[in-house]
Parts: sequence; structure tokens; C-alpha cells
Amino acid sequence: MANNFPILVDRIKRDGRSLEGGILKVDGFINHQLDPDLLYHMSQEFARRFDPNSYNKILTIEASGIAPAVMLGYLTHKEVVFAKKKKPSTMNNMLVTEVFSFTKNTTYQICVSGEFLSADDKVLFIDDFLANGKAASGILDLVKQAGATLVGMGFLIEKSFQNGGKMLRDLNIHVESLATIASLDNCEITFEK
Ligand code: G4P
Repeated sequence: MANNFPILVDRIKRDGRSLEGGILKVDGFINHQLDPDLLYHMSQEFARRFDPNSYNKILTIEASGIAPAVMLGYLTHKEVVFAKKKKPSTMNNMLVTEVFSFTKNTTYQICVSGEFLSADDKVLFIDDFLANGKAASGILDLVKQAGATLVGMGFLIEKSFQNGGKMLRDLNIHVESLATIASLDNCEITFEK
């Protein structure tokens, strides 16, 4: 059963658009233009669902995960690290993995410095979308390479008609999604009950 957060559901109903190919357009309030009030409420909800005492670091991936991750980090006073999609020449002790994007049909690398993700860290991963879970799998690999502990994964929007949520929950990962979309067929947005 989905645990939908009413403030986000209402906003998606009002301003979200369903596009061809199972894509939900939310660029007016999540991944291009940002609504800080909405980000604040969503991050408060993450702080309620994941005990802030259980993690010391928030991990995300650039670009769209950064805003909710930083807002949560501000509220809970945790450091935030974002995996980068371009390898910086100056990074020390770089951990790297590959991610396949179904949406963009390309493979890309994400990397994080071992200086900022290490065996001492208890990590909460935050991202905007959970679709096929490829980005999340890449994060699992980086956390494993670092010897860190994953505490949970929080997503603003999960598309339950794609298989990322099932894959992560089958691994016994604590997954929380603030809005779960069951279908985007016929350009209609149907939420999981
Ligand atoms: P996956 O990681 O769950 O397997 O998903 P997928 O490869 O399909 O997603 C890759 C990118 O597409 C991610 O952003 C993800 O946030 C985004 N995405 C997935 N489904 C949707 C959707 O329905 N609507 C929108 N607007 N985006 C979606 P990214 O490439 O990392 O880009 P960004 O973080 O720089 O925005």
C-alpha cells in the first residue's frame, strides 16, 4: 500500500503532466523551477519517516536530487553529498560506478570521493524519481565500495509501474516514496492507493 503525502499529491494533480512514454512532467515545481515551501514540507515528511538519529549523511545524485537532499540536511543538520555525473580531475580517492538510464537510453558514470563517503558513514539516499532503480543501484554500489551502511532510500515520486521499488524492497531496503504513481496511461495520472 502506498503512503502518499497529500501536499505533494495535490501539487502533482494541479501542476504535473503525463507525457508519452510514461514520463511525468514536474518541472514547474521539482526538477527545473523549484518550490521551496513544497521542498520544506516534503523534507519534513522525510525527517518524520526516517529517524534522523539513524543516519549521519545524506547522499543524492546531481542534479534534481540536490534540492530535497539539502533541505532535509538543513532540517536535520546532516551533511549532504551528491554523486557527480562528470569525473572531476581533482577528486581524491574516487569511487565510480556505471548507471544505465532507461529514460535517456544511455549509460553514464557517477562518482563520489572516498573522502566524503567512507566506512564510518550511515547513509540516507534521497532522489526525485524512482523509476527502474538504476540510479539507486549505482548508489548501492558506491555505498558498498565505500564500506558505508545504507539506512534507507527516500524518493519524492515513485512510478510503481516500473520495477525499481520492487527491486529495492526485495533487497530489504527501507524505501519511502512521498507520491506513488500507479499509471500514466492515456495521459492520466493515477496514484497508487
Ligand atoms: P532509474 O534511475 O530509476 O532507473 O530511472 P531512469 O534511468 O529511467 O531515470 C533517469 C533519469 O530520468 C533521472 O534523472 C530520473 O530522475 C528521471 N526520471 C525518471 N522518470 C521520470 C519521470 O517520469 N519524469 C521526470 N521528469 N524524470 C524522470 P536524471 O537523468 O538523473 O536527471 P536529473 O537528476 O539531472 O534531473
